[in-house]
Amino acid sequence: MSRFDKVAKEWDISDARTALSENIAKTLIDNVSLQTTMNIIDFGAGTGLLTSHMLGRVASVAAVDISAGMLNQLAQKEELKDMVTPYCQNIIHEPLEDDFDGIISAMTLHHVKNTDEILKVFYEHLKEGGFLALADLDKEDGSFHSHGNEGVFHFGFEREALHVKLIDAGFKEIKFTTAYTIDKGEGKTFPIFLVTALKV
Ligand SMILES: C[S@@+](CC[C@H](N)C(=O)[O-])C[C@H]1O[C@@H](n2cnc3c(N)ncnc32)[C@H](O)[C@@H]1O
Repeated sequence: MSRFDKVAKEWDISDARTALSENIAKTLIDNVSLQTTMNIIDFGAGTGLLTSHMLGRVASVAAVDISAGMLNQLAQKEELKDMVTPYCQNIIHEPLEDDFDGIISAMTLHHVKNTDEILKVFYEHLKEGGFLALADLDKEDGSFHSHGNEGVFHFGFEREALHVKLIDAGFKEIKFTTAYTIDKGEGKTFPIFLVTALKV
């Protein structure tokens, strides 16, 4: 059982997490032209905090996650049922069969060991013209996860280095924005970027 399986039932209780996903969603909506005909992936969808902001904005969301516990919480949200299909699988080893108009993701990239590999997998899951919108931590000192760093493969990302990786994976029109800053008190702040890119 992963840490996410263990904490899934309490995940949405946190005001900090709700505020984070609201701000990521707002920045995403400001930076990506979502269409009600679009079929998209939420990579690392978890309990659906970001997915829920897609209601009425896209046609469907493939909620991809490797934690059955997190996806079970998402599956209990009645309002999401018509829009969301959960996929409990690692798309690096078991890709989805369809091509998608876009991929969104919040706070999951730092949990994936091989960034180059997952960016290529994202590229392969997109149609021509499809978009990528990833939110994650800027480079940090390893103190963000107060419960410890089990399952954390990256202490955030340097924007310039991630930009290069996105180009290497084939993406174009790459743009970084600061979506939010998490304040953990005692002078500890953690900026969160949103990077958008296109497969063109
Ligand atoms: C920090 S949580 C974020 C969940 C959600 N996006 C949110 O903002 O509340 C990270 C999520 O990524 C999932 N995850 C980690 N590695 C993954 C992988 N290789 N493929 C899919 N999901 C993954 C975890 O199970 C967890 O649900």
